[in-house]
Amino acid sequence: MTPTNLWNDSDAPAGDGLASLTYRSRLLGSDRTLVNIYGGNTSTKGDETDHLGRPCTVLWVKGSGSDIASITDKGFAGLKLDEVLPLFDRPSMSDEEMIAYLDRTAFETGRPRQSIETLLHAFVPAKHVDHTHPDAIIAVACSPNGPAVMREIYGDRAAWVDYIRPGFTLSQQIGAAVRENPQIECVVMGKHGLVTWGPDSKTCYHNTLRIIGEAQAYLDAHRQDQPYGGPVVESMADDDRDALLGQVLPVLRGAASAEKKSILLVDTSPEVMEFVNSRDAKELSQVGAACPDHLVHTKRVPLFIDWKPAEGVEALQAKISDGVARYKEEYKQYFDANKTEGDTMFTPAPRVVLIPGVGMVTSGPDAMGAEVSRQLYHRAIVVIKGSTSIGGFVSLSAPESYAIEYWPLELYKLSLKPAPRDLEGQVALVTGAASGIGRATAKRLAAEGAHVVVADINMDGAKEVAASIPGHHRAIAVSMNVTSEEAVQAAFHQTVKTYGGVDIVVNNAGIASSAPIEETTLQDWDRNQSILSTGYFLVSREAFRVMRKQGVGGNLVFIGSKNSVAAGKNAAAYSAAKAAELHMARCLAEEGGGAGIRINSVLPDGVLSGSSIWDGKWRAERAATYGLQPDQLEEFYRNRTTLKVNVTPEDIAEAVAFFAGPKSKKTTGGVLTVDGGVPAAYVR
Ligand SMILES: NC(=O)c1ccc[n+]([C@@H]2O[C@H](COP(=O)([O-])OP(=O)(O)OC[C@H]3O[C@@H](n4cnc5c(N)ncnc54)[C@H](O)[C@@H]3O)[C@@H](O)[C@H]2O)c1
Ligand SMILES: [Zn+2]
Repeated sequence: MTPTNLWNDSDAPAGDGLASLTYRSRLLGSDRTLVNIYGGNTSTKGDETDHLGRPCTVLWVKGSGSDIASITDKGFAGLKLDEVLPLFDRPSMSDEEMIAYLDRTAFETGRPRQSIETLLHAFVPAKHVDHTHPDAIIAVACSPNGPAVMREIYGDRAAWVDYIRPGFTLSQQIGAAVRENPQIECVVMGKHGLVTWGPDSKTCYHNTLRIIGEAQAYLDAHRQDQPYGGPVVESMADDDRDALLGQVLPVLRGAASAEKKSILLVDTSPEVMEFVNSRDAKELSQVGAACPDHLVHTKRVPLFIDWKPAEGVEALQAKISDGVARYKEEYKQYFDANKTEGDTMFTPAPRVVLIPGVGMVTSGPDAMGAEVSRQLYHRAIVVIKGSTSIGGFVSLSAPESYAIEYWPLELYKLSLKPAPRDLEGQVALVTGAASGIGRATAKRLAAEGAHVVVADINMDGAKEVAASIPGHHRAIAVSMNVTSEEAVQAAFHQTVKTYGGVDIVVNNAGIASSAPIEETTLQDWDRNQSILSTGYFLVSREAFRVMRKQGVGGNLVFIGSKNSVAAGKNAAAYSAAKAAELHMARCLAEEGGGAGIRINSVLPDGVLSGSSIWDGKWRAERAATYGLQPDQLEEFYRNRTTLKVNVTPEDIAEAVAFFAGPKSKKTTGGVLTVDGGVPAAYVR
């Protein structure tokens, strides 16, 4: 079947220049079976006028670091074609020479660096050129008899180039193939992808789709009823799988996070299940990457766990721990066997883990990284299905893979990313995060790189806070009443299923009440106890359970209060519960120390701005206690402090970030007051 034609003349920009290239690129990118995320590149050659008013031809080609699905005009580099074309006659050129040369041909400043595959666009003598990584073509390009299959499909309308790493020579070979065979309509790049072209943007787009469609039709005609040797395992029922994931994801995350914390993502789609449940998945998954572009995000091979649901959860946990350890060992060997001087090994943990009956788990430095791995391995599964239906699946050798994975030009792309922050790859759950101190804490931890679970009984507020945290899937809102054992467990389960585990838990959800002891009802007392004391207990217990399964330590931060240590009038129920929290924190510090789980407390006082507690009855009650009007409280609290300041939720969040991060790594059982200085609460 030909891929869907999305070109719409009424949407397409006028003219046949950069705007039209952008439009075409986004259409191609919107279909991931044609171009994988961050993959592929497109170009056009057009007439421009330079800064001196001279006419010149500019090659507009995708810049490094953007995804063509979302590219804008600014994402393209512009090079003076007349200065680029003479390179075609050179015998050879190193990557460094090529980059340095191309940098000097820039038509204008302020544009991204041109794609690594720029020269193939320059050397193919057509106005518009597409280089894509379509599943259907790669299936042919990764089959052992690829050139013969290609001839069967296209006759003499296609040329084949064997796999070599992208760069000057590959571009030259592609350019030569087109120049020497003017009748051809495409070049198939062994184990890699496709080059197509056209005299105008619309024709180029249609050519690309038509050529891919022909390969797809060939694969459709060869489709096997039982791909990958047919199923040998049945998918688990949803509920069983769900419960199992809660038990095994933290184990996997811990094993994979020893060197560097990572975020996990589960995929149980029908395509994935068909593959992981199959007879041949174990072997096929170990052949190698389906496209050089995938390697950096999937590694050369996934970890395949040789397990069946009948073996049970404990066997799976053990096989995951052993499997990850073995994978890392083998990765180190691969690195040692292929490294060149100056290379530093990446995290050796697998990025893709396949579990029969369960699905695929990908990992990444953040949720986006895990998503990229997921998408790319989906592409691999489709490619393997196609290749095996027409004779088998071959891939890059280990040295070829290494040369891509540790290619300085790929590393350059990574170097464009900002430096990792303190809490990168970590998962933080904050209770009561819909408002006040919890909300400020969620945002602060997110700003340090953490993925945040915004837990609260107020779901509307929690959703708002989660939505305000930028980045791909960096925060989720979960409904959690901290007084309910079931709700707390469900929220942790959801956290584990979403991100794979948890590293930081902030016990913050709270209320306040104030009344003289004679007027304190049993209900008031119980309410304070259940939300503050019992709530902190239930959340901590679940945190410990997940953290112990992960086995890579963790951090609990308790939001206590000045009242945890200082006696105040008319707030015995609240203060006693707050004192219980503080002592619980210190007891847990003793229990968690051996496992690297730290527990520290922050004691705020008088945080009036942004706090819902201070919107309501508590403000009136506290004001009455001090004989003040409610709106005089800010000033009263400020003047009461040693530093004469008001304390904000952000001030508390700063202290939480300190305890949650590596800067406090040698402190546990600790207490930090953030109250502007209240002598009664000075810790002794
Ligand atoms: N604001 C202050 O002056 C102050 C001073 C000392 C200590 N504290 C402590 O700081 C913490 C946060 O207070 P804040 O001022 O940000 O209050 P806030 O009312 O603005 O936020 C508290 C949040 O907790 C949530 N919550 C209440 N009961 C819950 C439950 N059972 N389960 C889950 N979530 C629940 C609320 O929905 C709310 O979003 C509390 O533990 C409080 O005791 C606050
Ligand atoms: Zn490519």
